[in-house]
Amino acid sequence: MRSRLRRALHEWAWHRNTDRELLPARTAGVELQNSIRPMIAVARFVAFAAKELHDRPEWRDRIAAETAERGSLVSGPLATAFAQEIRRTAPIVPMLPGRAIADIELEGEKVTAGGRVVLDILGTNTDELSWERADEFDPARFVGVEDYESLTAFIPHGGADVASGHRCPGEKLAIAGMAAAVATLSDPRIAIAGTGLEVNRRRLPTKPASGGRVRSADASASRCPFR
Ligand code: HEM
Repeated sequence: MRSRLRRALHEWAWHRNTDRELLPARTAGVELQNSIRPMIAVARFVAFAAKELHDRPEWRDRIAAETAERGSLVSGPLATAFAQEIRRTAPIVPMLPGRAIADIELEGEKVTAGGRVVLDILGTNTDELSWERADEFDPARFVGVEDYESLTAFIPHGGADVASGHRCPGEKLAIAGMAAAVATLSDPRIAIAGTGLEVNRRRLPTKPASGGRVRSADASASRCPFR
């Protein structure tokens, strides 16, 4: 990890733009930070997964059984469904602000060019007109859903089409990482601490207070079971 970070630092420090000029130090720093920032955001979702798995031992058992049967921590259908329900409900990025680039009309509301538009991400993901039992945490709603991008009210990483718009191109990576983390956290050799899981919804971005703490379920074990 250390050497990879050093390489990223080297890449951005010496990156040249199309005019062969070095980037301003601030831009290079922002780009360096962009190399790790998205995955740090994924870690917040994983902290919410730790909380929800702790509160739902029956889902942990089901996911652990799925992982054992498949012999893989990657891409389990139940683990993926759990990850999708975390993305639907966790209030990490509750809204996305932007500015209109032209005069537009949105559902009867006129917005002039330069005007502020706020996309209500959490409100859309939990809108009772679009979702059955919208307030209920139920990963089963995503079991068998392959084409999640066709769900227009499911926009945790922005809306519309990734190829022609600004929808997050890292969405599939985030889902894959989260599903692997959900499978790992469901392993019976891991214990999820029940303290520090409360969420302050007045913070932005927010997370379970502790970030989700785990330890070996076997108190005498001195090594990570996944080592
Ligand atoms: C918790 C994880 C993540 C969340 C919540 C998230 C969310 C978002 C959102 C809301 C947007 C803006 C969409 C819009 O303007 O309509 C976006 C854009 C973007 N995301 Fe993510 N993202 C995450 C992870 C990632 C990852 C893992 C990557 C890449 C490895 C990534 C790369 C990008 C890029 C490059 C854009 C700019 C797209 C553009 O403007 O065309 N994101 N993301």
